[in-house]
Amino acid sequence: MYESLWGNTARIAGAVAEGIGPEVRALSTAEATAAMIAGVDLIVAGAPVLGFKLPSEKMRESIRANPGKAPAPPDLSHPAMRAWLDALPAGHGHSAAFDTRVRGPFGSAAPAIAEVLEQAGYVSIAKPVGFVVGGRFGPLRDGEVERAREWGAELAKALE
Ligand SMILES: Cc1cc2nc3c(=O)[nH]c(=O)nc-3n(C[C@H](O)[C@H](O)[C@H](O)COP(=O)(O)O)c2cc1C
Repeated sequence: MYESLWGNTARIAGAVAEGIGPEVRALSTAEATAAMIAGVDLIVAGAPVLGFKLPSEKMRESIRANPGKAPAPPDLSHPAMRAWLDALPAGHGHSAAFDTRVRGPFGSAAPAIAEVLEQAGYVSIAKPVGFVVGGRFGPLRDGEVERAREWGAELAKALE
């Protein structure tokens, strides 16, 4: 499941879901309701890195007020990953976390997601991973969608 303002993280989430298996679907933070995830074996959660970290409400608000040179309006229709994690009920499944980001040492979001999932009782089965975009708003770099699909397949194997 994912938070995604310009579609890059959603695209990676879709590829990871494909890699895990044909019956798996990627869901936004709005679609992945508590009822939907109750009793799941594996939560894979991803978000973009914005302002060096997991997007804050303040960051989302500032993007809403001033989207800058964005090629498309940001999709703020689904909640922030932060809010989704805050509301996550305790569980007994497994977890993995990813983020999308530009290349360079400009922060991360996946480790923060991984930590909350672990605290909620979802045992981590993979190191947090970052998928890379070419510019501030994307697109994903060549090969990243395939890498996400492969990572999904690895997660499915690890779960076995
Ligand atoms: C306002 C803004 C701030 C960003 N800040 C960072 C950052 O601090 N570090 C980074 O690696 N990437 C940063 N990025 C790049 C985004 O992480 C990247 O475009 C991401 O793939 C967006 O995901 P989305 O399309 O799913 O919303 C920023 C992009 C924007 C538009």
